[in-house]
Amino acid sequence: MTEKLTFDLTLFPSPILRKVAEPVETFGEDLKAIVTGMFERMRESQGVGLAAPQVGLRKRLLVLNATGEPEDDLVLVNPKIVELSGARVIFEEGCLSFPGIYADVERPESCTVEAFDTDGNPIREEFGGFTSRIIQHEHDHLEGILLVDRMSSADKVRHRAALEELVERYKRRR
Ligand code: CO
Repeated sequence: MTEKLTFDLTLFPSPILRKVAEPVETFGEDLKAIVTGMFERMRESQGVGLAAPQVGLRKRLLVLNATGEPEDDLVLVNPKIVELSGARVIFEEGCLSFPGIYADVERPESCTVEAFDTDGNPIREEFGGFTSRIIQHEHDHLEGILLVDRMSSADKVRHRAALEELVERYKRRR
């Protein structure tokens, strides 16, 4: 029997969010327990996607659900974006590691992903629309790239106080 895992969110500017995550090497029950805990954290926080570094795990693992329907849960283990295609689209993004901060980010519309499921079976699929947007955002987390890196300098100025507040909050909790 695998233990139930409960995760807290890792918020900006926690250093783990800046690390390049490591490939998952072991598939099976322990990995599924992590995935279950990540989906719970994502839903409780009203997010649509979550990357493992956001719960303090330096693993190349992400979960997402673009619709809120349980059958649309998607888990990508060791995902690689092998192709980006379509028009570049500007869309407002949020991030559970940046509570209350939203900013326009420009990204290609579609992405083709190679990954594994939690049993180690390979997946290859092209995604478009909101799902593609979430995957590209979450995949950034695995490379240590954050919303603050993708926003315009005007948005950085607009959000300066909120970003500074997160830094202050982080300092106080140590
Ligand atoms: Co994020």
